Amino acid sequence: MLIGSTTLPTLETSRLRLRWLTEADIPALYELFSHPEVTRYWSWAAYTERAQAEKLLRNIHRLFAERSLFNWGIARREDDRVVGTCTLSDLNAQNQRASLGYAVNRAHWGQGYGREAVSRVVEFGFTSLELHRLEADVDPRNTSSIQVLARLGFKREGYQRERYLLNGERQDAVLYGLLRPEWQPAPAR
Ligand SMILES: CC(C)(COP(=O)(O)OP(=O)(O)OC[C@H]1O[C@@H](n2cnc3c(N)ncnc32)[C@H](O)[C@@H]1OP(=O)(O)O)[C@@H](O)C(=O)NCCC(=O)NCCS
Repeated sequence: MLIGSTTLPTLETSRLRLRWLTEADIPALYELFSHPEVTRYWSWAAYTERAQAEKLLRNIHRLFAERSLFNWGIARREDDRVVGTCTLSDLNAQNQRASLGYAVNRAHWGQGYGREAVSRVVEFGFTSLELHRLEADVDPRNTSSIQVLARLGFKREGYQRERYLLNGERQDAVLYGLLRPEWQPAPAR
């Protein structure tokens, strides 16, 4: 997958540019992941120190080098400001599948950035990476995330009880999946 590349390809949408993250984006990553509503159903607790965002960036770069994580910054085309992240993880070439993740800065929820960015990464997964299956697991209370997946055609496939322990709370997960033949490409940008 992306043989020889040292950075992720940039993916364009009408309002967004999904791009490689750099040290200049550390403040934006910190702002994103230090908001408790953003990490309410996330796999880690809200950041309290900038060093956590620095470590995240190092991991993003290292895991891309290993080709186990593709983590784009969601930047607005108008000012290149990073307003979120979108990821493909658990990349499995043999079975042609990956897991999807996404987060948008709390100040920018409800503007369609989530759907626009995720839709583009889904397209990249099914076309450029030639994946057959994309999957995501979501807390059943995370209605906006479920809405993003449902609008893109993801099907509910299962329910896992108490799959996560976060901030002392056991959280359930709903599994969603989308197969390449089921995917309806978005209209041309
Ligand atoms: C999930 C998330 C990325 C959606 O980002 P977003 O940019 O607000 O998404 P959109 O604007 O495309 O909206 C998606 C849907 O959620 C709804 N929505 C957005 N903000 C909402 C809010 N605060 N309350 C209720 N619904 C909301 C929208 O109306 C939209 O539904 P629609 O398509 O029927 O109109 C964002 O809420 C987020 O970062 N959540 C925290 C991180 C997270 O949980 N990620 C997913 C882990 S599986």
